[in-house]
Amino acid sequence: MSFDLCIRNGTVVTAAERFAGDIGIRDGRIAAMGRDLPRAERDIDASGLLALPGGVDTHCHIEEPAYAGALLADDFESATLAAACGGTTTIMPFVNRLAGASLRESAEDYAGRARARARIDYAFHVILGQDSAGGIGQDLPALMEDGYLSVKVFMNYAGYMLDDEHILEVMATTRRHGGVTMVHAENGHCVHWLSDRLERRERPRLSAFAATSPPAVEREATHRAITLAELSGARTLIVHVSAADAVEQIRWAHARGISVLAETCPQYLVRTVEELDRPGWEAAKYLCSPPLRHAGDAAQLWNSLANGTFQLVSSDHSPYRFEGATGKRSAGPEPHFRHVPPGLPGLETRLTLLFSEGVQAGRITLEQFVALTATNPARIYGLHPRKGSLMPGADADIVLWDAQARGIIRHAELHDACDYSPYEGQAVHGLPVMTFSRGECLWDRGRVAGAAGRGAPVARTKAA
Ligand code: URP
Ligand code: ZN
Ligand code: ZN
Ligand code: ZN
Repeated sequence: MSFDLCIRNGTVVTAAERFAGDIGIRDGRIAAMGRDLPRAERDIDASGLLALPGGVDTHCHIEEPAYAGALLADDFESATLAAACGGTTTIMPFVNRLAGASLRESAEDYAGRARARARIDYAFHVILGQDSAGGIGQDLPALMEDGYLSVKVFMNYAGYMLDDEHILEVMATTRRHGGVTMVHAENGHCVHWLSDRLERRERPRLSAFAATSPPAVEREATHRAITLAELSGARTLIVHVSAADAVEQIRWAHARGISVLAETCPQYLVRTVEELDRPGWEAAKYLCSPPLRHAGDAAQLWNSLANGTFQLVSSDHSPYRFEGATGKRSAGPEPHFRHVPPGLPGLETRLTLLFSEGVQAGRITLEQFVALTATNPARIYGLHPRKGSLMPGADADIVLWDAQARGIIRHAELHDACDYSPYEGQAVHGLPVMTFSRGECLWDRGRVAGAAGRGAPVARTKAA
């Protein structure tokens, strides 16, 4: 048996186990795994390193329409470069309807842009806003048949929030087509009312943002999403869960035998609401929806990762720049919680943060790290068996990880097109050394390689 590449003597880690061994790669796929595989055209000694499946980040926002004038800084090239440098080899961004275009036309537009510029493989979710809700009967089923098997709906945000009946229709459609409904669970009416009241009472500082969507707002929406999932029977995933109150609802559902999947993100695990007390515009760097919460909430989220209540950790990468005409602080002459676009960049830092604060801190195991960042997301969204696992036949998407490496997160050393990191100065313990996408090395100890446009769409399989 001949190989193009053999990664030797690493500790191979899957979602279930770890073992010492070699990985033989041919034509971009894993051809064999075992001990003492024959010489390859290129042999890499991975002694002392972990060989992990490349990260699968199933929640990132790239090239979506402007939010009140603010623009996401990354295009498919910079986002996928940042992903690869952080050890991620598959991303799932969103088709968010473009002005003047149908959902179908928008999907073709995004697919064309990704085809031209992505460096790693990708698959798309569809966002169904209010103006696309009429397309539930037409565009959506056709898109789902073409492999757009996951749909995000919102219970918050002007222009996006759907009423329960529409959400049930989406869920019924995704169920019929073997897909997943992703729910942004915050009650937008409550957010709206609380924001109005706050604005009347006091100067709308950024620190007030958290009070416009307190845990009760997320708790109610999470409970409602669970109810809608139960009624429709749809495979449902609550995205970016932030509050202990919402965790409680998900546990309640599981205890009653109601199936619901849940995701959280590094910002809710390693950052807290106190960041919003930073003076002036600085707090805008930490403004996201749902808002950052308290340390007690983060502790519950960590427990949920360890005990299986949650299945995945995604970045929710939303790279609004801080400075400039399309950045977070272009939102008006003075900081105002209502005008700053919500969202934080995090595609490149997701894995190192979860490894440092999760595995190294003893909160989750190495196998759970792999499950949460690669295997589960690939399975849930139908990318398995090509993505998310190290096994013969899978794509050779592999990250060689140095568990002992220490570093400090500095935005200047990251590769996205944003101009700050909410993790600036954070010490990390465990870093990606080399990243391979279908056997091609894209990141090698600080050197980047691989052409824009080499990334390809991943065909998905439907849920049973
Ligand atoms: O603040 C966030 N999460 N921004 C991105 C959009 C979303 O709701 O996921
Ligand atoms: Zn959301
Ligand atoms: Zn309202
Ligand atoms: Zn998001």
